[in-house]
Amino acid sequence: MSKSPYGQEVESNETFLAGRRSDVERMGYDIELHHQAIQLQVAASRHRFGYQQTWCGVPIIRLPDDIVLIQEIIWEVQPKCVIETGVARGGSLLLNASLMEMCGIQPAVLGIDIRILEHATKAVADSRFAGEIKLVETDSTSSSAQTEVREFIAKHSDGGPVLAVLDSSHAHEHVLNELQMIAPLLVAGSVVVVADTIVEAMPEGFYTDRPWGRGNNPLTAVNAFLKDNSQFSRVDKWGRRGLISEMRDGVIIKTA
Ligand SMILES: C[S@@+](CC[C@H](N)C(=O)[O-])C[C@H]1O[C@@H](n2cnc3c(N)ncnc32)[C@H](O)[C@@H]1O
Repeated sequence: MSKSPYGQEVESNETFLAGRRSDVERMGYDIELHHQAIQLQVAASRHRFGYQQTWCGVPIIRLPDDIVLIQEIIWEVQPKCVIETGVARGGSLLLNASLMEMCGIQPAVLGIDIRILEHATKAVADSRFAGEIKLVETDSTSSSAQTEVREFIAKHSDGGPVLAVLDSSHAHEHVLNELQMIAPLLVAGSVVVVADTIVEAMPEGFYTDRPWGRGNNPLTAVNAFLKDNSQFSRVDKWGRRGLISEMRDGVIIKTA
């Protein structure tokens, strides 16, 4: 065993990783810490913290913890393609494509939004991933979205796992429809990340300008979906991984 510069024994990699696993597990169930994290998020939202991040020079509406989480998922799942609903300014599509490349996977990303903004189109076109990101403008629960997703998966997945990130409208009905639309198109081992499950934990009346809130949000949709779809289950090592996160309990895997 070697010594650190401060004189302590440095634990083996196995011991370190085992200790870290149990830290992650314990922290995921530290409810007091979770409540403190929510309070911090409420306070940070005064400064629109969720909108302050940039990826590859393009605004991304994702918290730093969740960016790391997506990296961990892509590294482990090795998805053949990524489907994301909700494009906004395009940053999360560049995140997916760049992480795929970094993890040794040929990037293939489909982004669906009901309104593809001009600057999102430009951001993608100007990026080095222009040929690997496809943008589709449609409601993500429409039959044309389902056709696009089916064709994209058929073209890129070669029977392998897919990562889907649902980050469009956060209303219960909409997210549930997205889940039901995409679920049959995925092979076992595929992962779905449902963004903004945090809505359920935020104070009553927090979302004054949006048609979602407590009792009507992505978390309630995932809960309803899991009740009727036993071939999917939650992955706590990811869904409880973030501290300042919008995705708590929102990561599910297709197991069969
Ligand atoms: C939270 S933003 C997406 C953020 C983006 N994923 C990122 O990380 O930068 C939500 C997006 O969902 C889109 N949207 C809202 N309702 C939708 C719908 N019914 N179908 C598809 N997209 C929708 C909005 O136009 C908006 O661009």
